[in-house]
Amino acid sequence: MKVIAGNWKMNGTRNGLKDMVAALQNVETENKVILCVPFTMLGVDGGKVSLGSQDVSTHDHGAYTGEVSAQMISDTGAKYVIVGHSERRQYHNETNDIVRQKVEAALSAGLTPIVCVGETMDEKQAGKTMEIIESGVRESIPNNIDKDIIVAYEPRWAIGAGLTPTTEEIAEAHKLIADTLTSMGLAGTPVLYGASVKGSNAAEIMSIPNVDGVLVGGASLKPDDFIPIITSVK
Ligand code: 13P
Repeated sequence: MKVIAGNWKMNGTRNGLKDMVAALQNVETENKVILCVPFTMLGVDGGKVSLGSQDVSTHDHGAYTGEVSAQMISDTGAKYVIVGHSERRQYHNETNDIVRQKVEAALSAGLTPIVCVGETMDEKQAGKTMEIIESGVRESIPNNIDKDIIVAYEPRWAIGAGLTPTTEEIAEAHKLIADTLTSMGLAGTPVLYGASVKGSNAAEIMSIPNVDGVLVGGASLKPDDFIPIITSVK
C-alpha cells in the first residue's frame, strides 16, 4: 500500500474537485489517495478520497485576518494538511521553526501533517543536500509526538520543472529521512517523494527503497493524469 497524495496548489474549483472525486470512485486500488486542495474546496464530499489543506495557521483562533486554524480545517471533514511546502517556504518565508509550530497546531486538532523538506538548487550545488534534509526533518517535526505524521521529500529545484533526481539521489535522501525519523522515535513514518511525478515515472520512483508514496503537483489536477499514477503500483 502506497500513499498517493495530490497537491492542487492554487488551482481548481469545487465542481472540478467533485468531478475528480467521481472519476476516482471506480478506480480499483489499495493505495491511500489524498487530495490537498485550496481551503475554499474543503467540505466537498471526497468519497473514497481523503481531503486535506495546503497550509494551516500556527494559531488556534483570534485576530489573525486571513488565517485558517487547524480546528477549522478539521471542522470541514479534512484529515490532512501539507505543512512547509517549498512554495510556502519560498514565498512566505516559512522556516523550520514556523513549520514545527504548524505541525503542532495540526496534530493538536487531529489532522495528519504532511511535512515537506527539500533542498534548493543553490543548496544542492553547494553540496548541502543531506544537511538541509536532515535539519529539515529534525527542526520541522516536534519531539516526542505519538500521533501519525507523513513526511515528503521534495527537491525544490525539481518541482514543476520536469526534472527528477537520479534513482540513487532519491534512495539516498529517503534513507537519510527514514534513519532520522527512526532516531526521533518515528520509525515507520511514511516518506513520500514529490517533484515532477507523472504516470510514466511513478512506478519506478515508488520501487525505490524507503519511498512510501508520492506527492504530486501538476499531474494530480486531471483524472487522466492522476489515475495512472494511482494504478501504477499495488
Ligand atoms: P509537481 O508535481 O508539479 O512538480 O509539484 C510537486 C509538488 O510541489 C507537490 O507538492
